[in-house]
Amino acid sequence: MCGIVAYLGAKEASPILINGLKRLEYRGYDSAGIALLNGGMHVYKTRGKVSDLEGLIEDKDLSGTTGIAHTRWATHGEPNDINAHPHTSPNGKISLIHNGIIENYAILKEELKQRGYVFTSDTDTEVLVYLIQDIYEHEKTDFAETVRLALSQVTGAYAIVVLSQENPDMLVAARKGSPLVVGIGEGEYFMASDAAPIVEYTRQVVYPGEEEIVVVSLKDGLKIMTIAKTEKTPYIQTLELNLTALEKGGFPHFMLKEIYEQPRTVRDSMRGRLNMEQGLVVLGGIQDYTRKLLNARRIIIVGCGTSWHAGLVGEYLIEELARIPVEVEYASEFRYRNPIIFEDDIVIAISQSGETADTLAAIEMAKAKGATILGICNVVGSSIARASHAGSYTHAGPEIGVASTKAFTSQVTILTLLALMLAEKKGSLAASRYYRLLHELNSIPEKIEKALKANEDIKKIAEIFSKTSNALYLGRGINFPVALEGALKLKEISYIHAEGYPAAEMKHGPIALIDAEMPVLVIATRKGHYDKMVSNIQEVKARKGVIIAIVSEGDDNVESMADYSIEIPETDEMLVPLLATIPLQLLSYHMALIRGCNVDQPRNLAKSVTVE
Ligand code: M6R
Repeated sequence: MCGIVAYLGAKEASPILINGLKRLEYRGYDSAGIALLNGGMHVYKTRGKVSDLEGLIEDKDLSGTTGIAHTRWATHGEPNDINAHPHTSPNGKISLIHNGIIENYAILKEELKQRGYVFTSDTDTEVLVYLIQDIYEHEKTDFAETVRLALSQVTGAYAIVVLSQENPDMLVAARKGSPLVVGIGEGEYFMASDAAPIVEYTRQVVYPGEEEIVVVSLKDGLKIMTIAKTEKTPYIQTLELNLTALEKGGFPHFMLKEIYEQPRTVRDSMRGRLNMEQGLVVLGGIQDYTRKLLNARRIIIVGCGTSWHAGLVGEYLIEELARIPVEVEYASEFRYRNPIIFEDDIVIAISQSGETADTLAAIEMAKAKGATILGICNVVGSSIARASHAGSYTHAGPEIGVASTKAFTSQVTILTLLALMLAEKKGSLAASRYYRLLHELNSIPEKIEKALKANEDIKKIAEIFSKTSNALYLGRGINFPVALEGALKLKEISYIHAEGYPAAEMKHGPIALIDAEMPVLVIATRKGHYDKMVSNIQEVKARKGVIIAIVSEGDDNVESMADYSIEIPETDEMLVPLLATIPLQLLSYHMALIRGCNVDQPRNLAKSVTVE
């Protein structure tokens, strides 16, 4: 979703801003723009990619040491040059970039129109910059106070940075519900939607809180106040992000790099938490909540997309191993259906970005109703992580590909650790099974390594099916969410229509779709509902369907029934999702590549969905 970059200092701003926009490209966007202060306000913006913006500005005077830049993911108004950000005030002296939605923009726009203002774009953002000019001219107060007064009239979500020609030595930024990070260098400041554009310049950062305004000034340094006008002391943190984690590292795409990182990322998720010598799982971040978890009336897991799928795997794990009731909810549905929440409920929010608007709103609502909130996030310091009472980071490192891969396996790893920790404390598992599971989990990174070896075979299967228009994914039990995740991966990056189903549900409808043209992917590993899956395969074959089976290594039985099969190493039924997901990710990747799709930045999608 929209990306924000801003710079104030002594260096030329434009290379820093353009480079920053490139670092944020992964978020998904449809237009790009830049505003530079150089005597006057110079704004360039265009529909399309950052490379189109570079083309637009190549023959322009780009001097200036203060500027803002933006990649827009359209909400209000189609993606075109006019709707692109920055938006500029009618007198041309103030420019603003925005991520979020000004919900009351229509009322504000009407009021401003009645005062004679004429708007040029269809966006909600333009209304805010007009309002700032209006207040600046009428209130005759300082610029930061002007922005504060304007924001006090706004409802909705925003991260904004405002640039003023009359105040060239400062930038004013604010956030509510949308992410923003401020980098502090030697006599210079950076602002961005996340740390990626900042890390190569400084590791000292401040994450402004909800409804906070940040003013950076070459004269007065960094100041923070709330929209309600309370001064805050900035809390400066040191980034641990590594620059090489933001590069492709020799891989053609971030998605492939991230798929191949999984042996390491799953190991990193377990690091310091799985103690093989003592046979213990210690999730430090949530240890203090163990009693609450054990006594919980139920655990409610909320998330969106892939994170919701991880939540479904978590439901199987926690119910099977720890015998605590679990419900899994789409955050977007949960937040709006006035759910019954008890004080002894625990809500677990799962989110790679930690910024997903629906997930954030869902936990705020549950918190207000008295529930305890635990977060499973990847991005350190993200909004969901901060809004949770406690949590565990997945430590998968930056995930740049829009299609979530390593984040999913890391989330499932944390949920497995959680289920095992609770099972051990509760005594709900036979000791022999508990220790077997610990050993199996510990060996999963090597097994993922082995599963990745099927890449060349998977590529050949992708070549055979790359022209298909539909695909069905079937799984049972804990592999049902794996089927959902496999189907989501295929549709989001290759634009092939794909459905995931619990295998037994096939005969209640989807079976009508099966013919010789329809590839049916089945997760038919030896452990877990094996005979039932074999029956489902027979049902598909009887209707001339084409079976691509994910099988346990050496399973000649299913291999002889399937048209194509992909082997994964044997493991405990509860851990199969960590392995079965790998070939499905690779298959989607190759299918998308063969079809000429933009694997890392699929159309219409945003990496971090910060609007509802
Ligand atoms: O950052 P989150 O995990 O909260 O994001 C949730 C979904 O937007 C995300 O998983 C999305 O479905 C991905 N594109 C899936 O690959």
